[in-house]
Amino acid sequence: MHQIHATVAQDFERVNQLIIEQLHSNVDMVENVGHYIIDAGGKRLRPLLVLLSASALGECSDEHVTFAAIVEFIHTATLLHDDVVDISTLRRGRPTANAKFGNAPSVLVGDFLYTRAFQLMVQLGSMPILTHMAETTNIIAEGEVLQLTRAGDVNTNEVQYLDVITRKTAILFAAACYGAATLSGEKEKNRDTLREFGLNLGIAFQMIDDVLDYDGNADTMGKNVGDDLTEGKVTLPLIHALLEASAAEQAIIRHAITEKNTDQIDQIIAIVRRCGSIDYTQARARHHYNLALEKLAILPCSKARDALERLTELSINRDH
Ligand code: IPE
Ligand code: IPE
Ligand code: MG
Ligand code: MG
Repeated sequence: MHQIHATVAQDFERVNQLIIEQLHSNVDMVENVGHYIIDAGGKRLRPLLVLLSASALGECSDEHVTFAAIVEFIHTATLLHDDVVDISTLRRGRPTANAKFGNAPSVLVGDFLYTRAFQLMVQLGSMPILTHMAETTNIIAEGEVLQLTRAGDVNTNEVQYLDVITRKTAILFAAACYGAATLSGEKEKNRDTLREFGLNLGIAFQMIDDVLDYDGNADTMGKNVGDDLTEGKVTLPLIHALLEASAAEQAIIRHAITEKNTDQIDQIIAIVRRCGSIDYTQARARHHYNLALEKLAILPCSKARDALERLTELSINRDH
């Protein structure tokens, strides 16, 4: 990860400065909650995607730096809202903002970050970016609602799962790359190819996130294991296990999903592993990783393109 950062170190520093600057508000609670989640760090993958895409296409401009901050603000807003909806208690190695400040501050400061992102977009003054990001954020919201309505549904299938993760997660990765290409003045064909790179990377990334929810370690991830089951979220490891498990095992999983009950989480993790569902989900992630890499091939050779490849690789081989 250090090597990847090093490729765009100066611009990355400018993005971080802009993020801090734009967190400013005269309302104390906005700054407190905003800094609480932003200062905890996070991988900053999406701004990195913006900066690296820009560098791989030529050069990284002031507009790219602003756009990178915009994308991270949108991501952070979705995290604040997501942790309220998922009733999560751990994020980035700390109690979630909802655990520390309550649900209302998290929702409202999430709105602040969303709207600040749009203020920055207006400053950018690019109608194509505004149009694309308005559509993107709208689709993310739909994705989270769709996931909510599917929670507890044991009949969720892989196609429906893919639809949800594409909307809630992959679309923002796609927009980071598409937006960077748009600001670089790329032709539509190249913009679309980069969008598809980001989309497949985002799908692979969320699949691994869903693997880690069963197979990860809370200390390393900075998030709790088993959160998905607590909310009756039927992700790919569980969808696969439901197809492969014995009748008795299926009954245990079904009960946990419909009742949102994690009493048997250890047993369910064991079933998920025994059924090869972790391997299966990793293989599906690798499929999308390969699709992403194919798209990258349109870019000329450069350090930035190599870094994008490494970032894609890290997104599927990661423990946090
Ligand atoms: C978490 O995203 C939400 C998902 C889409 C899985 P990240 O794993 O990129 O979160 P941070 O920003 O590094 O904390
Ligand atoms: C990511 O899904 C949702 C967002 C788009 C924020 P998750 O609910 O799996 O993300 P984590 O695991 O809480 O980070
Ligand atoms: Mg969540
Ligand atoms: Mg998750």
